[in-house]
Amino acid sequence: MKYAFSFLAVIALILIAGLGSQIPGMHYLFGVAIPYLAIMLFVGGFVYRIIQWAKSPVPFSIPTTCGQAASLDFIKQDKLDCPTKTSEVVARMFLEVFLFRSLFRNTKSEIHDGPKLTYESSKWLWVFGLLFHYSFLVIVIRHMRLFIEPIPRWLTAIEGVDAMLQIGAPTLYLSSITLLIGLLFLFARRLMNRQVRYISLNNDYFPLVLIFAIAVTGILMRYFLRTDIDIINIKNLAMGLVTFSPVIGAKIGAIFYIHLFLVSILLAYFPFSKLMHMGGVFMSPTRNMANDSRAKRHINPWNDPNIKPHSYAGYEDEFREFMVEAGIPVEKELPAAKDEV
Ligand code: HEM
Repeated sequence: MKYAFSFLAVIALILIAGLGSQIPGMHYLFGVAIPYLAIMLFVGGFVYRIIQWAKSPVPFSIPTTCGQAASLDFIKQDKLDCPTKTSEVVARMFLEVFLFRSLFRNTKSEIHDGPKLTYESSKWLWVFGLLFHYSFLVIVIRHMRLFIEPIPRWLTAIEGVDAMLQIGAPTLYLSSITLLIGLLFLFARRLMNRQVRYISLNNDYFPLVLIFAIAVTGILMRYFLRTDIDIINIKNLAMGLVTFSPVIGAKIGAIFYIHLFLVSILLAYFPFSKLMHMGGVFMSPTRNMANDSRAKRHINPWNDPNIKPHSYAGYEDEFREFMVEAGIPVEKELPAAKDEV
C-alpha cells in the first residue's frame, strides 16, 4: 500500500487549498505568494541540479553502446547506437528526447517451465509514455493563452487541432483525455507488474497522483464547474503574475485555487524528484558522450596535476633494491656492486 501515502498527501493538499482559499484574506497567499515561491524553487532548484551535474567529474568514457563501434573501413558502424561524432550523439539524443527511442526497444524477459527464458518486445510503456508526455506538453503550451495577450495565431491553431473532435461546449480537448489515459496506464503498470511494484516508492506514485489531481481539477473547471470560476479574473491574475503586478479579482473560485496550489506543489517538488529526468537526460554521460575513446584520450578531470604518473619502470627503479632483497622478480637487474668488479 505504498501508494496510499501519495493519495492521502494529495487529498490533504486539496483540502488545504480548498478550505484555506476560502478564509478571507488568504487569496493572496494561494493566488500570488505560493505560486511565486514555487516558481523560485523550481527555477533555483532546476539550475542548482544542472550545475551540480555539470560540475561532476566524468572519470571514464562511458557512453552506452548497443551496436557496432567505428572500426575498419569495411565494417559498418552503427552510428546511432555507437556514436563517435558529436553530430551522431545529437541525433541519438534527439530520437531519445522526442521519440523515447530506448523505450521503443524495451523487451520483457520471463522464465517459464522448463526452465525456459523468453524475451519479447514490450511496447506499451513506450506508447503510453509518449501519450502522457506529449499530452502534458500540449496542455502546458495551451495554457500559455492565460499568460499572453493578444493570443498568437499558432496557439489558436494548436487549440483547434486539439479540439478537432468538436465534442460538447466548451469543446473537449483531446489532450485532457489522453493525459488521463497515459497517467492511468503508468499508475496501473506500477500496481500490476510485480517487478515494477516491488521497486516502486512513494516518490514514484506521488507525481502520478499529483498530476492526475491537477488534470482532474482542470477538467472539472473547464467542463463541469465552469460557472464556479471567473475566467476573466483568472486571466488577469495570470497576466499579473508574469508582469509582476498581480491582482486578485473578487470571484475566482475554490477549484481554481486547488488547481493552482497543486501546480505550485508540483513545481516546488520537481527539482528534488525523479522528474528532473527532464534536465538530467542531457547531463547523463552515458547519453551525451561520443564513443571515441580509441581516437581521443579521455583524461580523468579528477587527476591531480601535482600527482605525476608513476610507471612500472619508475616504480621498479625506486624499489628494485628492496624487491631483490625480498626475492621479488625484477625486469632490470641491480647494477653489479663495486667490490664485485
Ligand atoms: C503542470 C501544469 C498544469 C497542468 C498539467 C494543467 C492541466 C489542466 C488540464 C488538464 C485542464 C483541463 C482543460 C485543458 O486540457 O486545458 C486545465 C484547465 C485549466 N487550467 Fe490548468 N494545468 C496546469 C497549470 C495551470 C496554471 C499554472 C494555471 C493558472 C495560472 C492553470 C489554470 C487553468 C484554468 C483556468 C483551466 C480552465 C481552462 C478553461 O476553462 O479553458 N493551469 N489544466
